[in-house]
Amino acid sequence: MKKLIVANFKMNQQPSDVKNYFIKFVSLFTGVRADVVICPAYLDIPLAKFLTNQSPVKIGAQNVSDEEEGAFTGEVSAKMLKAQGVEYVLIGHSDRRIKFKESDKLINKKIKTALKNGLKCIVCVGETLADRNTERTYEVIRKQLDEDLRGLYENELESVIIAYEPIWAIGTGNNASVKDVENAAKVIRRAINENFSEKASRDIQVLYGGSLNEKNYAPLLSCTGIDGGLFGGLSLNVNALLNIANSIK
Ligand code: PGA
Repeated sequence: MKKLIVANFKMNQQPSDVKNYFIKFVSLFTGVRADVVICPAYLDIPLAKFLTNQSPVKIGAQNVSDEEEGAFTGEVSAKMLKAQGVEYVLIGHSDRRIKFKESDKLINKKIKTALKNGLKCIVCVGETLADRNTERTYEVIRKQLDEDLRGLYENELESVIIAYEPIWAIGTGNNASVKDVENAAKVIRRAINENFSEKASRDIQVLYGGSLNEKNYAPLLSCTGIDGGLFGGLSLNVNALLNIANSIK
């Protein structure tokens, strides 16, 4: 199976940067070794969709409202994203959990609303440095998964991808080790097995994210139980992302 590479631009790139980025990416991406999902800012989604029209590159959003529609000033609904041709959405990124105080209950509602509207959810989980230092990593991930996926039907998991993103590794230059990532993948798959089924635990795609770069991505993304990676900082460099997407094994 091809690896899945997800790029999260966060609140970076101006529309002119996005235009040049996608023109280059689309013209040089082979699509042979990896599936690629790029998540630009909401405002750049129509342009990104237009420029990836004839390409295997998929577009994701970085966030979505838990509400279907109505008086929610500043929010963007799953239906609106779907209408723009968006296929994926990041939910539960630590930026949202910490800086925007999103709870597991809200994340669970967002996932349900996104799934109902036909979006694939990339659900991010991961521990803080304090959790890690007190050996609570697996307990924290397990609690997040139990609460975030509560009430989902097993067949809905076909549209759910889990990204293990230790918070201490995001944007810090300190990536998790192969052993950390393999253990986390086991905990994630065990949670899926116990809450859904063995088949679901085997089939679900699990990604690693947190300070991935051109030097460390190969061992981290070929860990047992890992199907791809979520790239933040590196993904702003089109040549670096292209190099990884075209050469990953
Ligand atoms: P990073 O970000 O690759 O810059 O650590 C990853 C993420 O936030 O998803």
